[in-house]
Amino acid sequence: MTGSPGASERLFSRARALMPGGVSSPVRAFGSVGGTPRYMSRGEGAWMFDEDGRKYLDFCMAWGPNILGHAHPAVIDAVLRAAKDGLAFGTCHRNELAMAELVLEAFAPADRVRFVVSGTEAVMTAIRLARAHTSRKLLLKFSGCYHGHADAMMVKAGSGVVTLGLAESEGVTVAHDTLVAPLGDIEALEQVFREHGRQLAAAFIEPLPANNGLLIQEPRFLKRLRELTSEHGARLVFDEVINGFRFGFHGYSKVVGVQPDLTTLGKIIGGGLPVGAVVGRAEIMERLAPLGKTYQAGTMAGNPVALAAGIATLTELRTGAPYRHLEALGGLMDNAVAEKKNRAFRMVRVGSLFWPYYSLNGPIPTQAEKIAPEAVASFKSRYGQWLEAGLYLPPSAYEVGFLSAAHSPNDVEQLVAAL
Ligand SMILES: Cc1ncc(COP(=O)(O)O)c(C=O)c1O
Repeated sequence: MTGSPGASERLFSRARALMPGGVSSPVRAFGSVGGTPRYMSRGEGAWMFDEDGRKYLDFCMAWGPNILGHAHPAVIDAVLRAAKDGLAFGTCHRNELAMAELVLEAFAPADRVRFVVSGTEAVMTAIRLARAHTSRKLLLKFSGCYHGHADAMMVKAGSGVVTLGLAESEGVTVAHDTLVAPLGDIEALEQVFREHGRQLAAAFIEPLPANNGLLIQEPRFLKRLRELTSEHGARLVFDEVINGFRFGFHGYSKVVGVQPDLTTLGKIIGGGLPVGAVVGRAEIMERLAPLGKTYQAGTMAGNPVALAAGIATLTELRTGAPYRHLEALGGLMDNAVAEKKNRAFRMVRVGSLFWPYYSLNGPIPTQAEKIAPEAVASFKSRYGQWLEAGLYLPPSAYEVGFLSAAHSPNDVEQLVAAL
């Protein structure tokens, strides 16, 4: 193993003089778990290697995109081949078609897709489309759901915003057009629609909220949301930036049997490179420029190299093999957890997403507000030990862990033993 002990410490100290907090994205600073962020230099399968010469069994997986593991040969090969032909053209490219066909196959009856560069951008585009399509302004979101850092969504936003203890973000002026409702509360939902339903352009939700712990929703809540949005002429947007392609070659919409009007995608569809997408029926999507007057554009949108990574990833997923492996690993995780005596936590898991909840009191939370403070404190106090033991979990008690197709049964057992 190569590397230089203390390298992460030295690099982070230099970085703090160059970039705010030393990072390009806030949670990476390790602020809520303490210690020095690790500078990774290489990844392979389930492993990451840092500049200090240490290796980690990775359960963060770049926060979701690496469902096949790090540096999957088919993905790397596709990227190298595409890169040799040029990195960007700013023109039409055949990879857009191949990628569009894969995404639309999985999200039928949606029949149009617009590629963007991030999940945030996909959400921004969906907000604008929903407002244009309804000629309304108000948005509804749910407490604890994170939809990227677009102004309108920076309210009760989970993820890094809750990790840093911020209620919302300063510098945001438009969030007063956004209503926030609690997850899972049908009465509260009906009340919002009684009062504001006719002014609502859209309701945004992560159908499986995974940015403030893993807050599993009952299908009847999502079904009621579908009914209410339809009755009141509002659009329903499923933010599947984490959920999409995670539980099968489809969206979580298929798992719960609820069809949204628009879906936002990111993470997995880029296979580790920056790709986001908005998916929906032509009737809404064709309001986008150049056909319609809803403007949206991007120099890097539909970048051929990024799409090559996405196509290779989705092609691999389409075989079904990675999902079968992930399901087996998940079952094994449940068994391993059940066998452990004197556990301090309960494991919340859906498919390849897992969230160790360090409280034995009360039911497993399904609303952001119900997460026990002791669970957060307990996670934080243990994080350093996991890192020392060579396990890399997302550095926040509010973020979910990710299994990948590159993990082995032994990796999962090691994780459970350490937790
Ligand atoms: C559900 C959800 N929506 C949107 C986003 C924003 O995506 P990005 O970080 O690519 O802008 C995220 C990122 O974690 C997410 O989890």
